Amino acid sequence: MNSLELSPEAYREFLMRVAQLCADYAAAIPNLPAFPAATSGAGTRELFSIAAPEEGGGIAVVDSLRDVLAHSRPPSPRFFGYVLGSGEPVAAAADLVASLANQNVTAWRSAPAAVTIERTVVRWIAKAIGCAGFSGSLTGGGSSANLMALAMAREAKLPANEDGVTPGVFYASEEVHMSVPKAVALLGFGRKRLRLIPVDDRFRMRVDALQRAMEEDAGSGLRPVAVIASAGTVNTGAIDPLEAVAAVARRHGAWFHVDGAYGALAAMAAPASFPGLPLADSLSLDPHKWLYQPVDCGCLLYRDAAAARNAFSHDGDYAKVLNDDPLESFAFFEESLELSRRFRALKLWLSLRYHGLQAYRASILKDLRQARLLAERIAAHPELELFAPVELSVVCFRYAGSVPEERRNGVNAAILKRVIQRGKVFISNATLRGRFALRACIVNHRTRDDDALAVVEETLASARDLAVES
Ligand SMILES: Cc1ncc(COP(=O)(O)O)c(C=O)c1O
Repeated sequence: MNSLELSPEAYREFLMRVAQLCADYAAAIPNLPAFPAATSGAGTRELFSIAAPEEGGGIAVVDSLRDVLAHSRPPSPRFFGYVLGSGEPVAAAADLVASLANQNVTAWRSAPAAVTIERTVVRWIAKAIGCAGFSGSLTGGGSSANLMALAMAREAKLPANEDGVTPGVFYASEEVHMSVPKAVALLGFGRKRLRLIPVDDRFRMRVDALQRAMEEDAGSGLRPVAVIASAGTVNTGAIDPLEAVAAVARRHGAWFHVDGAYGALAAMAAPASFPGLPLADSLSLDPHKWLYQPVDCGCLLYRDAAAARNAFSHDGDYAKVLNDDPLESFAFFEESLELSRRFRALKLWLSLRYHGLQAYRASILKDLRQARLLAERIAAHPELELFAPVELSVVCFRYAGSVPEERRNGVNAAILKRVIQRGKVFISNATLRGRFALRACIVNHRTRDDDALAVVEETLASARDLAVES
């Protein structure tokens, strides 16, 4: 027997120990701190930055997983930083099975069940958000979905795959996620060719300004590639006016991409907030955010699969599909920048079937309601200030008390640090119109109303700890 092989009995025992550890951890999650006390340097380095072992430790290594979990940020019901989904545990178990089966989801002939399941869940998601008929693939996240979408836009509008890039212009609001300028740069256009369009008082792209910018560029002989609208900006959850933006993009012959990495999945539960979503040529969304899937699980949807093949099909002989059957000849690598791909779809397939779409819709509605509840409490509190309208599940606010305006940025930065140190809730920050805001984002199926409201208590308690003037 190869020394890497385990006997069936040894592997069964190993899995039982891992399962026990996972069940213990899942049960403990609601009571764990929102952030572990040991966050840096010493503890983690001593425990994990070890020399590679020559001799194997056998089943005892399972115990080291307890240290890993103890020094990890738990998927707490009171974690509201960034846009971080809560890691649904049925989906997590599916990830183990996906790795055990070790499917490489390149093409149907390599992974028949996995390819069929991925195409199925992509169809489910598209239909659930009102984009029935769109196809696509699962990605590592919203950033890679945005990059792939803009590569498709480039090949559709100013093809570069054969002869290289010719200058072209992109448009997005000044609230766009950093993955978009990164993609424009990576695709060889240069970040300066991304026009950042000003926003209105709800942080939504101003359509009049977009129209003007596109006309000015056209007048200077510059060619448009894509307009990128946000369906949920990372800072405040603003949803750009999708129908109006789509109309301007069409009028100028530009590709219309929607970055819905944070927000678009909320269209499952609140479709009225997303009119115009199906007008997109391409649409990024992140099941690892608002479908609570374990990282990684992003998704790119598109209306026309031929545009994806136009951008990504490079048939090297060794990968050529020698089959005419429409199912059996399907190859993700012809529609994606990835060749080897993990079986991301299994977690979605299992958890959506376990709970049902209805349960996911209810949980998204709960998140939306809790954000409004938190915003109401903040708005009603004399020491706190709500900083932006709550469009989805992000609440931006700051401590005001009797702190003079010129000191509020610094005071709130100190409060944020203190809130995180206290470990009861985790929030992050945003810069809105040059001012520092505290920011809570609820995309968490475990969060109860009291957990959300703890953001108010912890902000006030941190201000008291720091003796900030109230
Ligand atoms: C609006 C938006 N777009 C793109 C991304 C990038 O997604 P990912 O972190 O999955 O790459 C994010 C992440 O927060 C986001 O909020």
